[in-house]
Amino acid sequence: MDEIPNKDKQICILVGAGMSAGAGIPTFRGSSGAWTTERAVREAFEINNFTTDAEARKILWAWLAKSPAWTAKPTRAHWLIKRLDDGGHLVSVMTQNFDMLEKKAGIRQGKIRQLHGRIDKSLCLKCHRYFDTKPICEDLKNHPDPHCPDCDGIIKPDIVFFGEPLNDIMLKTIYGLDLPQCDELWCVGSSLLVYPAAGLPINAKQLGKKVVIVSTDKTGMDSLANKIIHKPADDALDQLVGAIMD
Ligand code: APR
Repeated sequence: MDEIPNKDKQICILVGAGMSAGAGIPTFRGSSGAWTTERAVREAFEINNFTTDAEARKILWAWLAKSPAWTAKPTRAHWLIKRLDDGGHLVSVMTQNFDMLEKKAGIRQGKIRQLHGRIDKSLCLKCHRYFDTKPICEDLKNHPDPHCPDCDGIIKPDIVFFGEPLNDIMLKTIYGLDLPQCDELWCVGSSLLVYPAAGLPINAKQLGKKVVIVSTDKTGMDSLANKIIHKPADDALDQLVGAIMD
């Protein structure tokens, strides 16, 4: 593979929960992961449970209301992706995180792919009216199982639940435009276990792209990486962005 000159390199970045660990937002897997310690919440994130079980909905909303994502600030790693964007090297940042820290870091909206949705918006599953999530969370004491004021439909955070498909148009953009256009795919802070996001390194390799994996622990895709950096996201992106921009 011919090495692309650093000044011309175009990068896609796949982001996982490890990227926001430094912002105080727990990751999902591993000994202290959210799914490991809060199994009832993990089960409530199954779409069939959420839509059929009022108790599951109450558990999920209570968990979301106290999420550290509401007050979290972008980490150095988020700012480094912004620097890459400012330098014209970012094709897209495809985030599995719903904390919106990429947006808070000022990365251009057109470059952000919210693979698994966003914490700040919710929608009625019946009439599809959208709501801001924050006021709903602040009113849980009166409405622990929020329903639509217009049609009494169930309100769901605009986060992709287990058993739900990802946005088709967004996936077409990623497969048809983002990956073909980039020179490298950096996978940062993801266990690469949940599809279709976990399959993106495979798609990138099939297109002849270089795959870099940044994770403090082994991931599901280490075997196909061109480069693996077992360091925290902040330090690894210092190294990767510095190699292109300094
Ligand atoms: N820097 C880099 N990597 C880190 C850091 C860090 N500071 N802290 C943790 N990691 C790594 C872990 O080693 C692990 O490989 O980040 C990864 C986090 O993995 P998960 O907790 O599984 O999170 P993620 O891969 O984003 O999960 C994917 O699964 O639960 C669903 O929808 C949810 O978006 C989520 C998806």
